[in-house]
Amino acid sequence: MNIDLVKDRSSDIHVEFIIKDELKKHKIYKFLNKIGFNAKQDSICFSHKNKTLFCGVDDKSADNVRSASVSAIKALKSTNYKSASFDANAANTRAIIEGLVLGGYEFNKYKSKAKKSKLKNIHLLNDDIASLQREFEEAIIIAEATCFTRDIVNTTPDDMTPPELAKVAKKLAKENNLGCNILGTKELKKEKCGGILAVGRASRHDSKLIHLSYKPKNVKKIISLVGKGLTYDSGGLSLKPATSMVTMKMDKAGACAVLGIIKAVSELKLDIEVHAFVGAVENMIGGDAYKPDDVLVSRKGDTIEVRNTDAEGRLVLADVLDYAQEKVQADYIFDFATLTGACMVALGQYTTGVMGHSNRLKHDFSKASSKAGELTASLPFNKHLKKQLKSDIADICNISNKPYGGAITAGLFLDNFITEENKNKWLHFDIAGSAYTESPWDVNVHGGTGSGVRFMTQFLKSIK
Ligand code: BES
Ligand code: ZN
Ligand code: ZN
Repeated sequence: MNIDLVKDRSSDIHVEFIIKDELKKHKIYKFLNKIGFNAKQDSICFSHKNKTLFCGVDDKSADNVRSASVSAIKALKSTNYKSASFDANAANTRAIIEGLVLGGYEFNKYKSKAKKSKLKNIHLLNDDIASLQREFEEAIIIAEATCFTRDIVNTTPDDMTPPELAKVAKKLAKENNLGCNILGTKELKKEKCGGILAVGRASRHDSKLIHLSYKPKNVKKIISLVGKGLTYDSGGLSLKPATSMVTMKMDKAGACAVLGIIKAVSELKLDIEVHAFVGAVENMIGGDAYKPDDVLVSRKGDTIEVRNTDAEGRLVLADVLDYAQEKVQADYIFDFATLTGACMVALGQYTTGVMGHSNRLKHDFSKASSKAGELTASLPFNKHLKKQLKSDIADICNISNKPYGGAITAGLFLDNFITEENKNKWLHFDIAGSAYTESPWDVNVHGGTGSGVRFMTQFLKSIK
C-alpha cells in the first residue's frame, strides 16, 4: 500500500469524516439517515453511488481522526477499491497516516495463503502540499518504524533467537549507517555480565549484548536507550504456568522498541546522538539453568540473590544498564521492558508504566505520549518499597518479599544499578501490557503494538 501527498488526484473512493453532532447539516443527511448511519465515532458507511466512505467522529481531534482512519482502512481493505483519498490538513495528516499504516498493519509471515488486499494507493489531498510535506514524511517514518518493531516482536521465538535479533540489528545498522558492536558469550564473560550469562545459560542460543549508535554532527543531546530482549521467557526453573507462557515471544518488545526508535531517529535525521543497547537472551530450563537460591555477581559488582528465575528481565537489564552508563556519558537514559505482570494489574493492559526520580522528565513524557497518541502513567517510587528488595545473604534480592507494588519494586531493582549522577537522567518504561495484544484496540491489531516508538520519537523530536 502506497501513501502519497498530492494536490489533486482522482481515486476510486473518497473518505469523508463526519462529526456526529453535525450530521444533520450534511448535504446528503436524508440519505445517510435513511440507511441508518448515525456518525458515531468509528462507525462507517459506504455510499458507492457517491464514491464516498463516510466515517463518524465525535470531533476532529487527532485521537478521534486516528481511530476513525483505522475503521476506514479496515473497511477499505475488504473491498475491491484500488485507490482511496482523504482530505488532509495540518491538524489531521499525522493521525490519518498512523491510522492507515498501523491500523492496516498485517503480519502474514506464517500464513501460507495470505489474503491480498486490492487497495494499492492512498492519496492525501491538500492544495498546499509543501506546507504539509515534512509532517507527512515524519509521520510515515515513525509509523513504518513502529511496524518494523511489530514485525520483530511478532516473529516466533525459534525464528527470532538472540543471534537472529543481533542479525536484525546488524542489518539495520548497515542500512541506516549506524555504528554496531555486538558482544557474544565470550565478550560477556570478559565484561563480567553475571546477570545476562546466568539467565541465558540454559538456552541453546548464545546471548548477545547489542550496541547500535547514531552519531550525527553538532548534536544537541546524547541519549542512551536500553531494551529488554528476552526472545523467550519460559520463566526458567520458576516455570511459568502453561497459559501464562503463551505470548512470551513478546518479552523482547523492549529491545524491538529501542531498535525501532533508533531507526526512526536516524531516518528523521534528528540532531541528537542516540545509542541503543539491547540485552538479547532466552530464559529456558535445563540441567544448566540458573536456579532460585543462586547468588549472581552483576557487572556492577553487586551480588544478587535469585529467588525467582522468572524475574529475569531485571537481571539482564542490570548488566546492560551498567554497561551503557560506562560506555556513554548520556544526557538521558531510557529503558524499555516488558518487565512485570504487576504493571498490567496496576494500570491495565493499555498503559505504559513510567518510573524514575525526575518529576520534570516524567511530566515531559506525559505530554509527549498524549501528543503521540500513546497511554502512559507514572508509578511513584518510595523508600518503603525499596526496603522490600533487601536480601539476607546478598546485596539485593531479585524479587520483593511482599506481593504488592511489583511494577515499582522491579523499577527500584533497576534503580540500584543507576549511578548517583544518572538518577535524574533515567526513566524506566514498563511496557508489559502495552507492547502486545491478542485483541485489536486503537491503532493496534493482534500481536506486537510497537509501544514506545511513537512517544519516544515525539520526546526526542522536541529536544532543544
Ligand atoms: N516477562 C515477564 C513479565 C510479563 C508478564 C510481561 C506478562 C508481559 C506479560 C517477567 O519476566 C516476569 O515474569 N515477571 C514476573 C516477576 C515476578 C516473578 C516477581 C511477573 O510479573 O510475574
Ligand atoms: Zn520472567
Ligand atoms: Zn520476562
